[in-house]
Formats: sequence, structure tokens, C-alpha cells
Amino acid sequence: MKTIYLDNAATSFPKPEGVVRAMCSFMENIGANPGRGGHSGSLTAGRIILEARELLADLFGVAGVNQIILTQNITHSLNLVTKGYLKAGDHVITTRYEHNSVLRPLHRLKQAGTITLDYLPVTLQGEVDLQDLERLQRSETSLLIVNHASNVTGLRLPVEKLSRRAKELGLAVLIDTAQTAGGYNYNWEQLTALGVDFIAFTGHKGLMGPQGTGGLIISKEAASRTAPFIEGGTGSKSDELLQPELLPDKFEAGTQNTPGIAGLTAALKFLQETGREEIARVIKARTKQLYRGLQEISGVEIVGPGLENPRVSTLSIAFEDIDPAEVAFRLDQDYGVMTRSGLHCASLAHKAVGTYPAGTLRFSPGFFTTEEEIEAALTALAELVSRLS
Ligand SMILES: Cc1ncc(COP(=O)(O)O)c(C=O)c1O
Repeated sequence: MKTIYLDNAATSFPKPEGVVRAMCSFMENIGANPGRGGHSGSLTAGRIILEARELLADLFGVAGVNQIILTQNITHSLNLVTKGYLKAGDHVITTRYEHNSVLRPLHRLKQAGTITLDYLPVTLQGEVDLQDLERLQRSETSLLIVNHASNVTGLRLPVEKLSRRAKELGLAVLIDTAQTAGGYNYNWEQLTALGVDFIAFTGHKGLMGPQGTGGLIISKEAASRTAPFIEGGTGSKSDELLQPELLPDKFEAGTQNTPGIAGLTAALKFLQETGREEIARVIKARTKQLYRGLQEISGVEIVGPGLENPRVSTLSIAFEDIDPAEVAFRLDQDYGVMTRSGLHCASLAHKAVGTYPAGTLRFSPGFFTTEEEIEAALTALAELVSRLS
């Protein structure tokens, strides 16, 4: 049976051809530890890391490549901020659309009595009222964390508007770009002027790189207040017993995932060559086709913003009396259509949109999804829903 992959919000697949080649080539021909020696292998590995940083700087509009911290994934990047930036007594404002990679660290800190926490109301269409931000802000509020796009409903939040006001209120801002990076036009220099201090990103979703890659872009001011999350060898200032303050070394202890970063470099080149606009155009077209098709299937309710609202490709649906988990299972087993059901590591988002505890069935097309695949998935879903209802 031919399979149809519609789970790009979890991780993009397939990857651009060059990604696998670059990873294998690193393993076969280079293999050395970057920045840990003066020999040619180590220097070549170091150049791969630098190239990744340069391509990321280009993608996110960052002037200083050393402000790009390479991590294992966005969960690592987000923890770097929540564990390193927040201090005892701080108050944090976030949204109910956050992923567990934000919610769990915050709740641990809250449970330990280190921080207090409030949620900024967000409508189903992604609208926020700045007066709510002002109402929640207190003298000890230090950080606003916003998921740029929900991995449950696909809604895109107005991070620029929020950051501007947050800056006026004296808060640092952290944006989770897990569901937007690759398709959204980021300009770090403009965003940081608006008030953004941290952009966390993951390498294996919209950036089309391998799993085990990600990063954090950090403002110089925020970097000096942030304690390193992991400390250890950096290949620099080895005589010092404390983690060096220089960036990116302060936050990059330990050997990098160089094979993964080699793959990410190839993916970033593919993004650059293809063009962000083209990628966004293709994904938007598939999303529209899927959305319209889902609207036609009786017994299916689309949960989340309409096509006219700011959104990404992720589309969640609910059924009147069918369990989304059963639909996901049957779609996979009987039709080869891979989707994701349940709470998507974001239970508060499901509570906010009224789909807790069963969750939703989530479709997320990617750049390599074809029109024919969307059509086939819609036909399979329609058949299955009429069979199960
Ligand atoms: C909004 C959001 N944030 C964070 C994450 C965590 O990503 P990773 O597993 O790459 O750390 C995800 C993954 O689905 C996500 O959708």
C-alpha cells in the first residue's frame, strides 16, 4: 500500500535529497569533532557548523552569527530560557496554546515556588487583547512566552503586536517558532527592535533538517542574564573552570550533533534555493485544498481558525461521536494515511478549544505533499467516517 504522510507538524518528511547525502558524507568522509582540535578533519567539521550558523542567520535575518545557539531541538532551546533566564520570584505570562516543552518546565518552576504564572487569553481565531497583557503584568513579570503558531489548531498569534507592548511594559519575549520557521519571513533585527529577546526554533519540521537539530537566537542583553543550562567543554578557553561568557560557547557545551547539523545545512541550502515564498505558496495551496475538502465531509468539524485568518498548515478536526484515535488508526492501517490524533503535547490548547480529553485528528501537509495525496486522504476520510458513524 502506498503511504501518504500528513504529519509534518510532528516532523517533516520526506527530507530534501541532499540532507541524507550530507549526513552520510560527514559520517563517511569527515567524522571529526568540530572545534576540538587543529587538524584538518576538526577544521572541516567546524566549517560545517559555521555554515549552518550563516544559513540560519540568513533565514532569520540575524546580523551576528554568534547569537545563534545550536541545540538538540526546540525543547532544549525553550528549556535553556525557562531554566536559565528565569529567577526566583519572577512572574511569567504565556498562552494556553503552548506545547508541553514550555508548559512543563514552567509548571515545575511554579510547583517549586520559583515563579508565578498567568495565561493570556487568546481567541479561537488567534486574537489577543493588549489590555489583558497590561492587566496581567506585575512589577515582577520578567518574561512573555508566545507560541507563534498552534500545533493543535494551526492559528498564528500576533507576536509582533504582543512584543511591542511587552517591551513597553519591560518584559523579555520568547517566541516558539516550531510550527512557523521555514515558511514565515522572520527578521530578527526588526523583531529584536520590537522587543523580542529569544527566538527558539527546531531543525526537523519546517526547516526540513534531521531530528536532533534546533537552536535559539538570543539578544546580547538576554544572553548576559541567562545562566547556561548545560556546562562543559567548548573547545575554547579551556584553562577557565567556569563556562566562558562568549557566545555561542556559553550555551553550547559538549560535542555538537555534527552529522545532524551537516544535514540541516543541506536542508537550509534547499530552502534558500527553493525560496521561502515558493515553499509558503505550495503549503498554502495544499492547506486550502485540504480545508475545503474537510468542509465537504459530513460529520467532520474543523477546530480552529478559518482560511481567512492567520494560520499555518496544521488542520485539526473533531467528530460528533467517533474517537479521533480510532480514525487515525484506521486511516493508517486501511488507507496508509499517516496523521496524528490525541492531545498533541498541548492539553491546555485542547481545553481552550473544547476538544479535551479526546483531542482531535490532526492533518499537517508539507512542502512535498502532492494534490493527489490530499485528494486520496480526503476520499479515505470520507469513506471511513461514513463507515464508522
Ligand atoms: C509548538 C511546538 N513547540 C515545541 C515543540 C517541540 O519540538 P521538538 O520536539 O523539536 O523539541 C513542538 C513539537 O511538536 C511544537 O509543535
